[in-house]
Amino acid sequence: MITNIATIFHSKLEGKEVSIRGWVYRHRTSGNMVFAVIRDPSGLIQVAVKKDKVSDKNWKDANDAYVESSLVVKGIVKKDERAPGGYELQATGFELISRGEPFPISKDLSDEFLLDVRHLWMRSQKMTAVMKARHHIVNYLREFFDKEEFYEIAPPIITKSGCEGGSTLFEMDYFGEKAYLTQSSQMYAEVFIFSLGKVFVFAPSFRAEKSRTIRHLAEYWHLEPEMAFYDHKMNMELQEKMVQKVVEKMMKEHPELLKICGRDPIDLEKVKTPFERVEYKDAVDQVNELGGKMEYGEDFGADEEALLTKELDKPMFVHKYPKKIKAFYMKEDPQNPELVLNNDLLAPRGHGEIIGGSERIWDYEELLARMKEQNLNLPDYQWYIDLRKYGSVPHSGYGLGIERFVKWILNLDHIRDTIPFPRTITRCYP
Ligand code: 4AD
Repeated sequence: MITNIATIFHSKLEGKEVSIRGWVYRHRTSGNMVFAVIRDPSGLIQVAVKKDKVSDKNWKDANDAYVESSLVVKGIVKKDERAPGGYELQATGFELISRGEPFPISKDLSDEFLLDVRHLWMRSQKMTAVMKARHHIVNYLREFFDKEEFYEIAPPIITKSGCEGGSTLFEMDYFGEKAYLTQSSQMYAEVFIFSLGKVFVFAPSFRAEKSRTIRHLAEYWHLEPEMAFYDHKMNMELQEKMVQKVVEKMMKEHPELLKICGRDPIDLEKVKTPFERVEYKDAVDQVNELGGKMEYGEDFGADEEALLTKELDKPMFVHKYPKKIKAFYMKEDPQNPELVLNNDLLAPRGHGEIIGGSERIWDYEELLARMKEQNLNLPDYQWYIDLRKYGSVPHSGYGLGIERFVKWILNLDHIRDTIPFPRTITRCYP
């Protein structure tokens, strides 16, 4: 019977013969012994192959196995304090499925080389752990929205309506017409609040970002909830509840995975609601007090966000930005028409913005006026404006960048390690 490696460690299989299927992770020979560490999706185990315990063909296979060769090993489970994990397999069979060529990845290779062989680097222990953690984080998000009675909807990726300004649009030729890869599915999500009430989209967004930074991708996964009858305050409450829930689940159910990725789960214990809410103008003052240089009316960059968050243990909201620097769809603050009812959520310890959200303009005339002010090409947005004509209601929503969320939860240095094939200004291969 084929078993997976984790089962060997978790079940009491000592003295039993088991078979595993996997790949060679490490390999060395020593006289009439071969020691191979084998990996499968569930873990690693050391296999000891003794020449007189296996057939001649198996002994040859054991000697010939390069790192990453695929194989089936049969063996007796033996307790061994010296082996990683405390158990090893004493081989009774060792059969290559496919002998790999010498593997191009060894120690101390440059970041650029590892990006060139990303398709192979995905097998590394680090990337395997990150991909597992990302999977769980996405699952917990879906679970959260399901429990909150949201419907997931499927938006188009190709669109004529830019949502977040012209400068980062990827233009394409759509059968002779100009179209774009979507920057955000928000406007399409808004369509569904009228029929489904609370919805979310989980889909890629595209930004032709000209800058090379540790937190920008040209293609990223975007989770975008949109809710009828939610105001600015309720919008922020939902965001913090979602963040706390996912962090709690990761700490409780996958502390080991967090550790392998570089995050001590204890660091996340203080991520409890409510998160602090700081108005934009006060956040600008804070940046300047902390040694940064910022004028009122400028947006926060990575440096300013790092200053604001470096001593924090949990995320903080910055809200009510000047209307002038924000997107056309954000509702004016009734207490100050120069401001909008928006928020960013900044992750602690310098990780910075992970969410952008707002209450939306839901009045037809108000939206039209704002779009004219911003010189948008109205015919491309007619359908969106139309929504305000037929039973419009107050509503809000937000966008969470999955890679930025994963980067913070796992405490990774660079956003590219949160996604298998990062798309950046200098890279679209493999
Ligand atoms: O603040 P943004 O641009 O907001 C929107 O797109 C809204 N339409 C969302 C909404 O209300 N439905 O982007 C939202 C989030 C950011 O906070 C960030 O986490 C992520 O998307 N993001 C990026 N992630 C990686 N690379 C980039 N280039 C990103 N640009 C934005």
